[in-house]
Amino acid sequence: PRTARRGADGELVIGGVGARDLARRHGTPLFVMDEQDFRARARAYRTAFSDAEADVYYAGKALLTKAVARWVHEEGLKLDVCSGGELAVALAAGFPPERIGMHGNNKSEAELTRAVEVGVGRIIVDSFDEIERLERIAAGLGRVPKVLVRVTTGVEAHTHEFVATAHDDQKFGFALSTGAADEAVRRVLAAPHIELVGLHSHIGSQIFDTAGFDVAARRVTEFMVRVIAETGADLPELDLGGGLGIAYVPDDTPLEPEAIAKSLLGIVRHECESHGLPMPRIAVEPGRALTGPAGVTLYEVGTVKDVEGIRTYVSVDGGMSDNIRTALYGAEYTCALASRTGAGAPLLSRLVGKHCESGDIIVHDLYLPADIRPGDLVAVAATGAYCFSMASNYNHLPRPALVSVADGDVRTLVRRETEEDLLRLDVG
Ligand code: LLP
Repeated sequence: PRTARRGADGELVIGGVGARDLARRHGTPLFVMDEQDFRARARAYRTAFSDAEADVYYAGKALLTKAVARWVHEEGLKLDVCSGGELAVALAAGFPPERIGMHGNNKSEAELTRAVEVGVGRIIVDSFDEIERLERIAAGLGRVPKVLVRVTTGVEAHTHEFVATAHDDQKFGFALSTGAADEAVRRVLAAPHIELVGLHSHIGSQIFDTAGFDVAARRVTEFMVRVIAETGADLPELDLGGGLGIAYVPDDTPLEPEAIAKSLLGIVRHECESHGLPMPRIAVEPGRALTGPAGVTLYEVGTVKDVEGIRTYVSVDGGMSDNIRTALYGAEYTCALASRTGAGAPLLSRLVGKHCESGDIIVHDLYLPADIRPGDLVAVAATGAYCFSMASNYNHLPRPALVSVADGDVRTLVRRETEEDLLRLDVG
């Protein structure tokens, strides 16, 4: 995070708060969010898209708590939720429902009903079943929700296959190539209780080059132009999704918000101008790019085991239950000693958790000081996105607390789970 620095004795200090202090007062593992860093990134996206009066939706799936929702609102962003649970957090935080967009390939009857009742601003429809379900629910409630049709452009995003979403053989959206997208538009236009306001496209996540975004933007804009010509429908909005990659390791080179704004807006403007159409209102949905780099996980080292001639295994008090990304996507991270200055030649190490499987790895290869020992604190960087939000209770580990730091103050955003919390749910 931006405010991270080293104190006099080598201690990591974030938001003006030392790692030892954080661990002593809040325990480990601990998710730490640098509030100023998050806000600065949110503002950078707002600013990059401000000329076009575009909407920036923060994708709450990356990390959502009531405080995060309030920061998002205070920074002038809208919010993308993808479940009834995320919607409930947003509403509990007082987030204005008309500034929320709701996603999901299988929104339930209850989720859609709640979204329509509270007046969620945009519902992104993803299947023919959903169009029918939403029309029936809206008619029953006497409401007319605004919807976007999610289109899959056939783009093969250069990212991990689990998080690529625009190729044809996956579950999201309506394919352009098969005519499903045309049919979806026809059905929404024919449904009296849902109002089509535009199209949506999201190609995937942790993407570094503009090429995929550009092709997708061009294809979806061409489709928009064609739909307007063929149906006479007004399509004032175009949501181009999220997916901007962040730096987990030094080789990763993230796209700057200005660069992506310039490129996307340029493509849409060009297509529209060449067909004599006005520019639609553009939206983007960054998640990881706002929270990822602002978060750090602090762990305490419990054991250091030298596997003769191979490497040193450094075990910490969390693992795949607070960060599944390494095991699931082969994600890479950096990690450093956080409680003091180390000594001795760097040691080829592997940072592992305390779970009962050998795949419980947080960082495959890293160098730690030779005198690394039990009781040391280590910090894993760029864990602000998809770590807390994907945490589990595997092996009955209570989930860690999430705190924010700013100007020397610490706030608990989500308290640490206890064994009692877990046992309370076990009612058999
Ligand atoms: N919009 C839509 C429709 C999405 O599906 C997503 C992410 C986003 C926006 C935000 O994408 P971002 O800017 O954060 O890349 N658990 C995976 C990532 C899954 C992303 C799911 N959709 C990971 O840890 O890498």
